[in-house]
Parts: sequence; structure tokens; C-alpha cells
Amino acid sequence: MRKKIIAANWKMNMTVSEAESFVDDFQREVADITGVEIVIAPPFTSLPKLSELVGDSQNIRLGAQNFHPEPSGAFTGEISASMLRELFVRYVIIGHSERRQIFGESDAFINQKVLAAQANELKPILCIGETLAEREAGREKEILAGQLHGALANVPVEEFPDMVIAYEPVWAIGTGKTATAAQAQEAHAHTREVLAELSNPETANKIRIQYGGSVKPDNAKELLSQPDIDGALVGGASLESRSFTRIVSACCEDNG
Ligand code: 13P
Repeated sequence: MRKKIIAANWKMNMTVSEAESFVDDFQREVADITGVEIVIAPPFTSLPKLSELVGDSQNIRLGAQNFHPEPSGAFTGEISASMLRELFVRYVIIGHSERRQIFGESDAFINQKVLAAQANELKPILCIGETLAEREAGREKEILAGQLHGALANVPVEEFPDMVIAYEPVWAIGTGKTATAAQAQEAHAHTREVLAELSNPETANKIRIQYGGSVKPDNAKELLSQPDIDGALVGGASLESRSFTRIVSACCEDNG
């Protein structure tokens, strides 16, 4: 009942011309794939070109990797929600571990972004995940619950179904170390329980939870066949269109 969602997080990769050539190939490769939502989150500079190519009507949606919660003003270097909406951006990645760690984003700031995204018709892809030290100390469930409670404070229950949560164990990002399907499923089931506490079980069952962290064409199918894994947030393997297409199709085979 939850439509799978596969998202590309290109991070700080791809020039506009590289993005254009990717989308040229990719649109052809996924033309016959249905039943899955595809999101591409390029750097801001490629959004105008991709919005021209992809528009608002196809099965490929646009995402942004970041935005600032204020509507406008003296925030040098930042981008607002309305600037993104004008380019047909539907999703915005919030709380990625790189933003938490490198740019010092706190749960309180992430919460402001979630609320501002929802107020501006952008759907959050909210990232949560534990570090290796936290997992080794057996604290992963507590960390995930803390991040969810912090990021989702004051979010009305009716906004929950439109959010996407991405479970990205920090130790699996860009390292080639994927969580096993069983580890990921356990974390996803726990995430859904916390979402049920914050809303209710029926609402929590509607929320799509993606796995992220070294997802590749070869491991996508097993991860995506777990009952609580509703998609993937893909970094490195989304930079090449054939490899991203194989991940998208792994998801469809699984859907039958
Ligand atoms: P990799 O797929 O490169 O591990 O990156 C995952 C990620 O951070 C997606 O947001």
C-alpha cells in the first residue's frame, strides 16, 4: 500500500551539462517503469534545467538538498522554499548527517525546516541515523527516537503521511558498508513505532521510510524486499544513470 520511493541525492556532484545528459539517458531508461516514485535531488544550480526537462507531470520528481526556513531576507548563500517551489521542486532533504556533522545543524533547526517545508508545500525527506560509536554502544534506537522527537516537534498529525523518513546509518554512508537487510529492517520497524507514538499506528503505517547508505544495484533488491523498507536514498550509485536505473527497477521487481 505504500508506493516505493527511490531518491537520488547527488550531493556536491554534477555540473548543469552533466545533469542534463544524465536526465536525457535516465528518462529513456525509466520510461516504462511504473508503480514507483523517483526523485532526483541535484545541486541547486541544476534545478532550473532539470525542471525544464522533467517538469511537473512525469514520474520523476525534483528534490532539493537543502533550504533555509525563513521566507526571505539577509541570509547570504541560502535558498528559500518559494524559490524551490517555482522550479517545481516537491521534496527537500532535511537533517542529512553531512549537514548535521559538517554544518552543525541541530535538531531544533531541523525542526524549524520541517515546519517551514510543510508550510510551503514541500515534502520533507527527513534523514535520521546513528554513528558507528552509537551503534557499538547499543544506543541506535535511542538516537533514532531522539532525532525523530526533535525534528518532528509540533508537526500536526495530518502532515505526517506526506513526509518521507530516510534511515541512513552514518557508518554506511559512502563507505561501501551497507547495513544488512535485517539490521535495516529492525531500525525501520523501530522508526515506525516511534512515528506511531508521535502520531498513531494508522498514520505511521502510511509513512514511507527509505534506507540510505551504500545502496547499490546489487544490494537494492534484498533491502527493498523488507516489510518496512519503502525505498532508498542513494548517493554514489545515483550519479550514473544506468546504475540508478537498476536500483529503481530492483524496486519494481519487488513490487511485482
Ligand atoms: P551513498 O549511497 O554514497 O552511501 O550515500 C548515501 C547518502 O548519504 C544519501 O543521502
